[in-house]
Amino acid sequence: MMADMPARLAPALDPMTILRGAVACAIQAPSSHNSQPWRFVRRGARLELHADERHHLGVIDPARRQLVVSCGCALYNARVAIRACGFCDDVRVMPDPERPQLLAVIELGLPRMPTDDDRALLTAIGRRSTNRRPFHPRPVGQDVADELAREARRQRARMFRLTPEQKRLLAGLVAEADRRQYADADFRDELGRWLAPAGSQRKDGIPFAEKEYGSPLPFTITRRLRTLDLGERFGELERELVRGSPLVVVLATDGDEPVDWLDCGQALQAVLLRATAHGLASAFLNQVLELADLREELAVLLGLDDEPQMILRLGHADPVAWRAPRRALDDVLTETDDAADAEADADVVS
Ligand SMILES: Cc1cc2nc3c(=O)[nH]c(=O)nc-3n(C[C@H](O)[C@H](O)[C@H](O)COP(=O)(O)O)c2cc1C
Repeated sequence: MMADMPARLAPALDPMTILRGAVACAIQAPSSHNSQPWRFVRRGARLELHADERHHLGVIDPARRQLVVSCGCALYNARVAIRACGFCDDVRVMPDPERPQLLAVIELGLPRMPTDDDRALLTAIGRRSTNRRPFHPRPVGQDVADELAREARRQRARMFRLTPEQKRLLAGLVAEADRRQYADADFRDELGRWLAPAGSQRKDGIPFAEKEYGSPLPFTITRRLRTLDLGERFGELERELVRGSPLVVVLATDGDEPVDWLDCGQALQAVLLRATAHGLASAFLNQVLELADLREELAVLLGLDDEPQMILRLGHADPVAWRAPRRALDDVLTETDDAADAEADADVVS
């Protein structure tokens, strides 16, 4: 659907249509638990990206770090779409300290000729999806890893490739994080609320079969999740997934403030789209970063002065046969030409 966006938009080229198309691309971004914690307002020829507090994951993400990272991913997709439609992307991040929910304002900049690379990244938006399966042992070349690191750097984040020994140590932290999280009733309850059973009409949440690394499980287990401690089992599974992944990377930023999280989200999506364009599958291992002591331990084991923000595994894998759902465009986008539209302004603030 995304691949033909510029062709469909090109003849029209009016800012409203392009910005609407940019939002259609933005909402294909990954988000923690597929919570899609974003809201867009198009005000004339200006597009605003707001954090949507109603989709905040209070247990795994009390500081809202992952919420802002997810919005950063959506922002990057919108920018890719605008460039592929033949305009520079003109973005101001966190423009109003009085309104912290307003994460970015996006406008069309000067016209420019879209490049093949712009088109390749646009196509990658529609092809990318999280692939939780084991990856094939086929290695990922250092040249590709270097290219991904450059993408991260351009968005003011750093990407570190783990050595085999660091991967082994990380696998231990992942298993520990899983054990601890699944032993926590609040964690299980929140996860249970965001797992969608097969055949569900929900437009958010993680389709449960996917969480199970591609093996469909009966819906009853979503309920059992609330009472069973599955940490050991998930921990062992994920330990093997880390060890078997040819490329495991950590994204990190200098600081640990909302603006750094937004940068990290853009870097994350830049890395994911470039990896997708190279035919690589990707998956997340963020449980380690959701527990403060393990996050610190990871920084020490990698010798990082920076703040670790995201852990990814990348490699070649059998494709995922279906896609996680998304909210409809009109559920996340308000369009108004009234600069003082109070309804469009109304952020939920908790
Ligand atoms: C900030 C962030 C954190 C995430 N953390 C995890 C994670 O720890 N484990 C996991 O399996 N997926 C994780 N995901 C992936 C989401 O579950 C996934 O993006 C969402 O279900 C939508 O599916 P898609 O990526 O296939 O479009 C994360 C995504 C983001 C953006």
